[in-house]
Amino acid sequence: MKTTAYSLAAVAAFCISMNGQAANWQALPDTAPAPQDNPTTAAKVELGKMLYFDPRLSSTGTVSCFSCHNVMEGGDDHRPISLGVHSQAGGRNAPTVWNAAFLSVQFWDGRADSLEDQAKGPITNPIEMGMANLDMAVERIQRIAEYRPYFEQAFGPKVAIDEDSIAKAIAAYERTLITPNSAYDRFVKGDNKALNAAQQRGMQAFNDVGCTQCHSGANFSGPNLPVGQGFFMKFPTYADTAYVEKYQLQADKGRGEVTGKTQDNHLWRVPTLRNLTYTAPYFHNGSVKSLPEAVRVMGATQLNKKLSDQQVNDIVAFLQSLTGPFPEQTMPRLPPTPGDML
Ligand code: HEC
Ligand code: HEC
Repeated sequence: MKTTAYSLAAVAAFCISMNGQAANWQALPDTAPAPQDNPTTAAKVELGKMLYFDPRLSSTGTVSCFSCHNVMEGGDDHRPISLGVHSQAGGRNAPTVWNAAFLSVQFWDGRADSLEDQAKGPITNPIEMGMANLDMAVERIQRIAEYRPYFEQAFGPKVAIDEDSIAKAIAAYERTLITPNSAYDRFVKGDNKALNAAQQRGMQAFNDVGCTQCHSGANFSGPNLPVGQGFFMKFPTYADTAYVEKYQLQADKGRGEVTGKTQDNHLWRVPTLRNLTYTAPYFHNGSVKSLPEAVRVMGATQLNKKLSDQQVNDIVAFLQSLTGPFPEQTMPRLPPTPGDML
């Protein structure tokens, strides 16, 4: 994985072509890209969904991916900071899984390259799902005999039930968690009535004040980069504002915590802005409760601008047009636990 700290000069050059009339608005594709060694198939998605909902992947048998990423709603948990096994609090806000399939790196600090890599993280994270190692999780799933046919359907009769097949299945399910055809997408595809007047003003303001310097592309998370290459930006870029102290925006070093390099301190992967109406509170530490306030914070810390109330209201109206529609989710049936496993 590469850390590419895009210099603001490079970004400025990129944004000249995006400003004004020429803004490059893109609709979200109808399917998410999948790696060559893990094509998305219906059987894999079905298995992945079961594993995603299965709390037996956690040490206590109580915490599943779904616990912190509720796909019946915004794909997150609405807590500033997540709670895992034994109700221990982690250090960061749970990002949404909706449209994570379009991100080129995973986690706020981009420390996982792909959804496949990411899925192995929480299982052994001591305060998330708390398994001592991945082998323990694999052994659990192997011992639930009725999982076997689902793995065979998904990967063929010789499949090894191991961390890779588990992660691949979960990732395949996550690639179905996408929300094309929001009001914004329909507008970009030519339906002029899809956005109301405030939303259209907000779209213009979002571009004119410079949000698109970072939140560009179909997922509003930056340019379309190869998997494993993150689009990182400094947050706060302009630290001389009262918001930094008020919301503790410099307590966590972000990318610098992963690489140990001072030049990576406070670099963060640019997140998606889709479905924000469902994912309060905001930012990596979940410190900001409302969307208008998050927009004001971004204006001050990233653009050195105090946005007017009108600009904030219009931009929020525009951001609301990036929500949904969500493909319907139903809870899967899970295979039974053998009595001697408890
Ligand atoms: C205890 C709560 C918790 C559980 C359980 C959990 N996650 Fe997460 N998840 C988080 C948090 C918090 C982060 C962000 C951590 C960070 O960036 O440092 C995260 C990040 C992610 C991301 C990255 C999204 C992005 O925008 O970068 C994905 C995808 C994800 N989790 C999927 C899963 C899957 C799949 C499982 C089950 C195997 C799972 N999570 C289990 C809390 C949880
Ligand atoms: C210089 C790059 C940059 C610019 C310009 C920028 N952002 Fe951001 N934005 C980021 C980064 C990086 C984050 C992640 C911050 C973090 O780690 O908490 C972010 C986070 C956000 C979030 C919180 C997302 C979440 O899930 O919690 C919102 C909302 C947001 N930006 C909106 C905007 C708006 C609106 C504008 C224009 C007023 C804007 N941004 C301008 C880089 C930028």
